[in-house]
Amino acid sequence: MPGSLILFGDSITQASFSECGFGAHLSNVFARRLDVLNRGFSGYNTRWAKTYLNEIFPICQSTTTELVIIFFGANDASLLDQNPRQHVPVNEYGQNLLDICQHVKDRHTNSHILLVAPPPIDHAKRLAFQKQRYKEQATGVLERTNEGAGLYAAKCVEVALAAQYPVLDLWTLMQKEKDWSSFLSDGLHLTAEGNRFVGHALVNIINKTFSNLAVIPDKLNGAFHNSGSSSNFAKFLPWHDEIDEKSYSEYQQLMNGGGHSGGHSGGHSVGHSGGEVEQSEGVERKEDSSSSSSSSSSSSSSSSSSSSSSSTSSTSTSRTVVTPWDAKAGDEGFDYMKLINDYGSQPINDELLARFEKVTQHQPHEWLRRGIFFSHRDLHLILDAHEKGEKFYLYTGRGPSSESLHMGHLIPFRFTKWLQDVFDCPLVIQLTDDEKFLWKDLGLAECHRLAFENAKDIIACGFKPDKTFIFSDLDYYSEMYTTILEIEKRVTFNQVKGIFGFNGSSSIGKVAFPAVQAAPSFSRSFQIPLKGNSNMRCLIPCAIDQDPYFRMTRDVAPRMKLCKATKKKGCYKPALLHSVFFPALQGPNSKMSSSNKNSAIFVTDTKKEIKNKVNKHAFSGGQDTMELQREHGANLIVDTSYQWLRFFLPDDDKLKEIGNAYSTGAMLTGEVKKILIDVLQEITAGHQQARAKVSDDMVHEFMSVRPLNF
Ligand code: TRP
Repeated sequence: MPGSLILFGDSITQASFSECGFGAHLSNVFARRLDVLNRGFSGYNTRWAKTYLNEIFPICQSTTTELVIIFFGANDASLLDQNPRQHVPVNEYGQNLLDICQHVKDRHTNSHILLVAPPPIDHAKRLAFQKQRYKEQATGVLERTNEGAGLYAAKCVEVALAAQYPVLDLWTLMQKEKDWSSFLSDGLHLTAEGNRFVGHALVNIINKTFSNLAVIPDKLNGAFHNSGSSSNFAKFLPWHDEIDEKSYSEYQQLMNGGGHSGGHSGGHSVGHSGGEVEQSEGVERKEDSSSSSSSSSSSSSSSSSSSSSSSTSSTSTSRTVVTPWDAKAGDEGFDYMKLINDYGSQPINDELLARFEKVTQHQPHEWLRRGIFFSHRDLHLILDAHEKGEKFYLYTGRGPSSESLHMGHLIPFRFTKWLQDVFDCPLVIQLTDDEKFLWKDLGLAECHRLAFENAKDIIACGFKPDKTFIFSDLDYYSEMYTTILEIEKRVTFNQVKGIFGFNGSSSIGKVAFPAVQAAPSFSRSFQIPLKGNSNMRCLIPCAIDQDPYFRMTRDVAPRMKLCKATKKKGCYKPALLHSVFFPALQGPNSKMSSSNKNSAIFVTDTKKEIKNKVNKHAFSGGQDTMELQREHGANLIVDTSYQWLRFFLPDDDKLKEIGNAYSTGAMLTGEVKKILIDVLQEITAGHQQARAKVSDDMVHEFMSVRPLNF
C-alpha cells in the first residue's frame, strides 16, 4: 500500500479538492506514490484541532505517513472583540502548533512535517462578502484583518524556525504577487487561482526540503504518474509498460501460492494482526510472551544447513508480524531493526550502555551487551531518576497458560531479577489468569490455579521477598479497578482495533483486556505495596511482542487524571526494555509450544531428556558432512545450539571462541551441542532445586497485599 500525505487544517484545507484545489494537485503529483488524505475541518482553530488529535492521528494507522502538512491560523486570527469564539491568542496559537507537531511526531515517527502560515486577508472582499451574506445586519466591521493574519503568520514562522520545522509563509509569499487579491474569493478562502498558487508553492517546498519525496514529471508530457516520471520514492505496483510476461507470471504465482489470504504469511503490517488470528489463519497461537516465532515452513532435518522450507512468502507480501498473541517471522527470522522503526522505540546502543554502567556501577547484563534486550523506551529517564536518588519500580508479567515453563519463559524473569539486584527496587509481577481465560479454552479455576503454580517457578528465579509483589488478576482486580476505568475511558475501540486487530467478533472481554495489562504501569494501582506513591516511575522488561500494550499505555499516561500528590495532570509514561524472541529448538523457522514436548527444553526436564532433545532436535547450522564442515564452517545465525549459548553462556570470551571455531570449521556441531547440554543441565538443575524449596507459604507471602520494603 502507498503511504499517506495528510493535509491537516481548517476550511481552506477542507476545500482543497475543489476546482484546481491544492489538495487535488498534490494528489495528482503523488499519484500511486502517496495517498493524499483530507483532514481539513472548517471553522477550526488550533485549540479545537488539538482537542481532537487522538481521533485525527490515532495510535496506529494502517499505512505509514510520509508527510503531514499543518495549515492553521486563519480562524485563530479572528479578532477577539468581533469573533471571540474562534479567536485564539497569538502565543497560544504558537504553542498549539508546536503541540500538534509533537503529537504528529509521536504518532507518525517517520513522517515529515511541514507548517503553512495563513494567507493574507483582503479587506474589501471580506466586507463585500459580509454584506452579501448578512444583508442589512452586516456590521461593516472586519472580524479578521490582514495585519492580524500577518501576526499569526509571523508567529507560525517563528515557532517553526525555532523548532526546526520547514514552513511555507503564504501571507508573505502571496503578497509579493501584484495581483494577490485574485487569490481570495471572499477575502479569506482561496479561488481556483489561489489554490493553484498554493499547490505550486507546496510542491516547490516539498521538492526542496524533502528531496526523497520529490517527483520529477515526464519530460515529454509533464505527467507525474507514468514511466517517464521519476522519484526516489517507491511507487505502488509497476507501471503497465514495466509488466512483462516473466514478472507478471511470477507475481501471479506468488499470489496464488498462498502468500495472500488464508496463508501463514499474510501481509498484515506490524502491530496489526489480522483480527482473530486463531480463526482466520488456523495458526497455532503463541503460547506466551517470550516464546519463539512461527512460520509456515518446518525444518525437520537437524543436520542440513540449508532450510528445506518451501515457503512462498517473499518480497512484498511477507512482513514481520507481531501482536501479543501471534508472532510470525519471515524466512530470515525477525527483522528487529524494522520493528524498532515501526514501533518508534529506540535501539539500545553502546552510548546508553556506557551510561547504564556509569549510573549503576554495574557492568550491563550480557543480554544487554549481546543485543538480546535490543530496544527500549525512555530508559535514560529511569537512569536520570536513579541518578537523582528518585525511586522507581519494575513491572513484568506472565500469562499462566500451562504448568510447564520452558527455558524461554525464564528469560524475562531472570533478567528482571538482575535488574532488581542492580537497582534494589520494588517489583510487581502480574499473572494474567483473566487473559488466558479469555483467549484459551481453559476454565477460570484452572487459570487461577496455573497462576499459583507458575508463581513458584517465578519465585525460584530468586526475587527479593520483601520487595516483590506477585498478583493474580482474578485476586487483585478490584484494587486496580479505578485505574482500569481511567484507562478505559481514554482509549477508543478504534484505537485497540488499530493496535491489536480486534474486530466485531472479538469478545468484549478481549477488547477491554489491554486496560488490565496497562494498569500495573501506574503506581496508583498499588496503593498498599507501593505505599500510596501515586506517581512513581515504572520500568517494564518484556519481550517485544508485548509492546503494543505499552504503546497504548504510554499514549494515555499524560491524559490520566490529576495526580493527588504532585497536583499535576497525568502520570509518567512507563519505560520499557524489549527483548528479542527466544528461538525454538528446531530452528528459527519453527515454533515452541508447550504441547509439543520436543519443541523446547522445559525447566522440569531431566539431564537425560535435555541431552536427547539437544542431540536429536536442535537445528544445526553446520554442514552435512565433517569434511564440508571443516571446509566451510557453520552458519551461526540459524544454529540453535550457538544461538542458545548466546542466551545461557555468560562468559563472553568463551562464547566468542566457540563462535569463531564453529563458524570456521574448527569445531563440529556435536562439540557445540555438548557445551550447550552442560550449560542447560546446570541451569535446569539449579532451577529445580530452587523451586523445590518454594513452599505454599512462600507463595502466599509473595502474593499477599502488603507494603513492600523500599
Ligand atoms: N500478556 C503477557 C503474556 O501473555 C503477560 C503480561 C502481563 C506481561 N503483564 C506483563 C508480560 C508485563 C510482560 C510485562 O505472557
